[in-house]
Amino acid sequence: MEVPLPEPGPLEVRIKVAAAALNPADAAVWAGIFRSSEEVEYTGLGLDAAGTVDAVGTGVALKVGTPVIAFDAPVLRSTKAQAEYLVTDVHSVAPAPEGMDLTLAATIPLNAMTASLALDHLPLRPRDTVLVTGAGGAVGGYAVELARTRGVRIVAQGRPEDEEFLRGRGATWFVSRDEELSEAVRRFVPDGVDGVLDAAALGAPALAAVRDGGVFVSVRGDVLPAPERGVAVRLTTAGPEATRLSYLSALAEVGVLTPRVVRIYPLSQAAEAHARLARGGLRGRIVLVP
Ligand SMILES: NC(=O)c1ccc[n+]([C@@H]2O[C@H](COP(=O)([O-])OP(=O)(O)OC[C@H]3O[C@@H](n4cnc5c(N)ncnc54)[C@H](OP(=O)(O)O)[C@@H]3O)[C@@H](O)[C@H]2O)c1
Repeated sequence: MEVPLPEPGPLEVRIKVAAAALNPADAAVWAGIFRSSEEVEYTGLGLDAAGTVDAVGTGVALKVGTPVIAFDAPVLRSTKAQAEYLVTDVHSVAPAPEGMDLTLAATIPLNAMTASLALDHLPLRPRDTVLVTGAGGAVGGYAVELARTRGVRIVAQGRPEDEEFLRGRGATWFVSRDEELSEAVRRFVPDGVDGVLDAAALGAPALAAVRDGGVFVSVRGDVLPAPERGVAVRLTTAGPEATRLSYLSALAEVGVLTPRVVRIYPLSQAAEAHARLARGGLRGRIVLVP
């Protein structure tokens, strides 16, 4: 639909969107799982964008024309990233990785931020062990790559076809999602891992793979298993942090993070793109281009 061009207020940036990635959270909006308590005529979609600075509000030092990525965190708002223009908070914006295609760059913000924040919940030291479930997905894939930078040993769980990619990106061990998880993990780490980042939202079966007194980190508030054996259960909620986003953008620029795009749709085919996302099983993000 056509809406008036949004104007940036103080500390806001208007981005001319070049690409906007689709994420499971978008499906939760259009399916009505995340819903506004107020009556709204329509809602925008999209948390991830890449593009160029088009206009800035007072207090913003970014120059018009700068290539940027944005993590447009408020889930419910009338206009969001899957549009020609996005107005968002300056703290949600960081320089795009230099030399990277903006369709790839658009897949970084939400999921790399989530992976990075989730790892911060795990008090891991070098050589400690971490399990990443759903490691073939967007959060899980970035989590494996970021965990590698922390010098920990990683058990990555995915489909058999994810193994090669995950080993190449830093997984020490691989377990297939067809196996009983705790049993498979304990083949490599008999006492259980020090921590788990549960990107597949498995809950209790993932917690069972953690050693006594370890840490379980969830990415979904509705998937919080009951603590047991002294295992701490924590929840990650990603929010805008420009410094962290800039750092993650720089990591992508030097090849530490691997953005993956599976398919590009024009904005006019957004409904088809969302229907494809809902069918699942994708490796890499669907991206919309205006
Ligand atoms: N807390 C936050 O702020 C935040 C931010 C971003 C995302 N999230 C949440 O994080 C989760 C991951 O997001 P994402 O974007 O990475 O999703 P994704 O790309 O779809 O990845 C999810 C992965 O989990 C795997 N999986 C699903 N069910 C599984 C099962 N029963 N056993 C083993 N693996 C399974 C999927 O495998 P297949 O594709 O092969 O089925 C996929 O590889 C989602 O629940 C999302 O809502 C939370």
